[in-house]
Amino acid sequence: MRTTAFGPGKVIVLGEHGVVYGHPALAGPISRGVRAWAEPSERTQLELPDALTDSQRDALERAFARAAKKVKHPKVSIHVESDLPPSMGLGSSGALAVAIARVLLPPVTKAREVENLALEMEREFHGTPSGVDHTTSARGELILFQRGRAKVVTCPRPLKVLVAIAGKRGPTKVTVGALRERQARWPARYKRLFVEIASVVKDGAAAIRAGELESLGDAMNVNQGLLSALGLSSPPIEELVYRLRAMGAYGAKLTGAGGDGGAVIALFPEPEHAVVKLRAAGVDCFTSQLAGPRTL
Ligand code: MEV
Repeated sequence: MRTTAFGPGKVIVLGEHGVVYGHPALAGPISRGVRAWAEPSERTQLELPDALTDSQRDALERAFARAAKKVKHPKVSIHVESDLPPSMGLGSSGALAVAIARVLLPPVTKAREVENLALEMEREFHGTPSGVDHTTSARGELILFQRGRAKVVTCPRPLKVLVAIAGKRGPTKVTVGALRERQARWPARYKRLFVEIASVVKDGAAAIRAGELESLGDAMNVNQGLLSALGLSSPPIEELVYRLRAMGAYGAKLTGAGGDGGAVIALFPEPEHAVVKLRAAGVDCFTSQLAGPRTL
């Protein structure tokens, strides 16, 4: 018997980094992600995907060994396939962890156990993750996440984002670690920024519930300014953010860890036209609906 599972990638709409320090974040699953399938085998094994760097392979091997031990080495061979660009802030490791956890565990397993096993793997990838990435992937809905707890946030209007790639970036662990050093050195100053980000997250969640997308877009712009103040933005991100705003986005910001590059999200009432224009100009981008009514 072959079992298959999908773990979606994610975008953080508001609140990345603050969430590591116990503040809330708003995150939603995207249409791209990781598919895993398991087949009976003599021993527990993971077929490693080809397109990984040496350090990504090592991290994946360690994460898989940790998860397999936790579930007492079921006799399956697991294969994975992803259409998420890795290391771009789109939750590829969280999606991978969820897809693998789903095929490692018996099919009737409770969602919470999938999340716990995925978290074991995420710790290997990121050290001390907030848990927002794998939780968003496992829940598959737009959530307000804080300290391991998630509440679904609904929207009366289609909430669609455009996701665009600004370029290569360093590992999340390094960006999060460098910010941790800065905030440990000047805690009062950094705390003020995290508290302000938390307010923007709450405003954004209220705007989504009310279907006020222009207000959400403004919250995204303010959040981008605060992320920049935290030292998490860079010229390739800013250039794309300003370009998207000039194309009519209600709001645009980096998503995920940020740094030298990674992904940017923009909120448009209808993002499809912007995707066509950006692709013609050579920008790697796609759209995803995070919440709200869907047309069939
Ligand atoms: C990474 O997708 C989001 C960060 O907030 C790290 C984390 O939550 O663990 C930067």
